[in-house]
Amino acid sequence: MEAIMIGSQSRNSQVKDYICHHFAAEPYSARLAREGSDAKGLKNIHVPENVGKMIQLLTQLKAPKRLLEVGTLGAYSTLWMAEAVDPECKLITLEADEAHAAIARDHIERAGFTDQIEVRLGFAESSMRAMIATNEPPFDLIFIDADKENYPLYLELAIQLSQSGTLILCDNMIPKHGEIGAPDPSDLEAVAIYSCNQQLAHHPRLDVTLFPTIVGDKGRLDALGVALVK
Ligand code: SAH
Ligand code: DHB
Ligand code: MG
Repeated sequence: MEAIMIGSQSRNSQVKDYICHHFAAEPYSARLAREGSDAKGLKNIHVPENVGKMIQLLTQLKAPKRLLEVGTLGAYSTLWMAEAVDPECKLITLEADEAHAAIARDHIERAGFTDQIEVRLGFAESSMRAMIATNEPPFDLIFIDADKENYPLYLELAIQLSQSGTLILCDNMIPKHGEIGAPDPSDLEAVAIYSCNQQLAHHPRLDVTLFPTIVGDKGRLDALGVALVK
């Protein structure tokens, strides 16, 4: 049965709007990226403002010197995090789609972050394996937000690119469809996300929980995985 709505808006979406209005003022750079992404017709799948603020605060708490993002799109989440780091922090964001990478670079340049943020074009798996192979220094914070089918792989590679104290954040840990914790076997994204949740929950090197989030116009419940590498 459908949940009872208050007015025309669900209670969850009212809570989301309340948080966005009072606690998640968008920085100028992120606004520029959101408006630019809309204008250029990118799919509206960036983190909502309430989640942007969550990852920004977690970034501020972590104070990283090296930050890795998996899945750039228009650099909206990238810029939310970039606003919270020291000028010496290097951000690398991985994107497979050439058009997305070009749009992201334009937003990053217009926001004045060109020297600090590198958009690395290519499949995230290859980019991460290349970083491991060339002994790139570990990252202090890694935000995973790309193709959901590869989350279990990205988590393993992220741990290999971590050191003790690294914070790994994973967006969208509650799939859109299906029974909670029991995905339809044909829903490969959901199967991968729940398998990644199991990996998170049982990994000997992680202290972790899911922070519930509210996303989308209808106020769907989702979650941000927050994992500290031991
Ligand atoms: N983090 C962004 C949203 C990312 S959407 C934000 O919140 O603002 C997911 C992005 O991952 C898309 O731009 C998509 O092109 C990219 N992507 C999908 N598969 C990928 C892959 N295999 N490697 C790297 N990027 C990928
Ligand atoms: C969607 C939302 C996301 O945060 C994401 O990373 C991918 C897709 C979506 O709403 O479809
Ligand atoms: Mg996401």
